[in-house]
Amino acid sequence: MTMTRVAVLGASGLAGSLVMQGLPSRGAVPVGISRRHGVHVEDLEALRRALEGVDVVVDCLNHQTISARTAVGFFGSAAANVVAALEGTQTRVVCLSIVNATVPGVNRWLGYYRGKAAQESVYRASGLPLSILRTTQWFELAAQLLTQTRIAGTAFVPGLLSRPLAVQEAAEQLVEQALTLQPVGVTEVCGPELVDLARLAREINEQDHLARRVVRIPLGRTPLGSGALITPSPTVITGTTAQRWLAQRGAGPSTSAAL
Ligand SMILES: NC(=O)c1ccc[n+]([C@@H]2O[C@H](COP(=O)([O-])OP(=O)(O)OC[C@H]3O[C@@H](n4cnc5c(N)ncnc54)[C@H](OP(=O)(O)O)[C@@H]3O)[C@@H](O)[C@H]2O)c1
Repeated sequence: MTMTRVAVLGASGLAGSLVMQGLPSRGAVPVGISRRHGVHVEDLEALRRALEGVDVVVDCLNHQTISARTAVGFFGSAAANVVAALEGTQTRVVCLSIVNATVPGVNRWLGYYRGKAAQESVYRASGLPLSILRTTQWFELAAQLLTQTRIAGTAFVPGLLSRPLAVQEAAEQLVEQALTLQPVGVTEVCGPELVDLARLAREINEQDHLARRVVRIPLGRTPLGSGALITPSPTVITGTTAQRWLAQRGAGPSTSAAL
């Protein structure tokens, strides 16, 4: 019996590394792709070689930016290169995306989401068998915002209203989709409860002491603070609540860092 070979783009990243870990126990062979694995997605020849003989590609690439232009450039050209590298094959693609990132009323506020919309659109136009897995924000995003928004010891975290899930839960869904024989169109995954990510960041800060103070930037008058990041009809609702996620990470090794 031949084993399914699954290429994971962004294999060294948060989601990609968990997808890599989840594949072997399901009888699949993971093929890691990232610059750390020696492949730059802009290098078409290297990408072609890396994707040779794979059955499925799971795209977990990322480029952190708030610039729409940079995001559209990165996600659009990376997806176009994947499509070019797969030319002449019917390799299935699973693209990790974000709930409502393609909605203009949402992505006009977040340039990064316009990049995700460009990525989805390139894959859709490719004619390759495609599954798009959109999730809401991850709990881990609140931790990232806490670190990234610090100025002189104070973190300024936007009060994004979401139904977050754990990245581990997103990775499990990706593994599931990678090993499903039929592409499933669009799947939308969200967590079990409404959470204000700034309030979650405050609770994370109580564990990690990363900032002296966490200032919540209210977004209530914008779509981002009033429900536009949430899908009205999720395909999958995951089980981990914010309190359980906090308890699990609090029980792990200390991640505290100096101010
Ligand atoms: N955070 C959330 O709440 C959330 C929610 C839903 C969906 N998503 C989506 O999930 C995806 C993955 O996010 P993440 O946080 O797991 O990403 P991440 O940790 O930032 O990892 C990004 C990955 O992309 C690779 N990469 C970046 N540029 C590359 C290049 N030029 N060539 C080859 N590899 C490159 C990186 O590896 P090297 O640096 O080694 O190249 C790394 O493995 C993103 O597309 C994001 O939009 C995120």
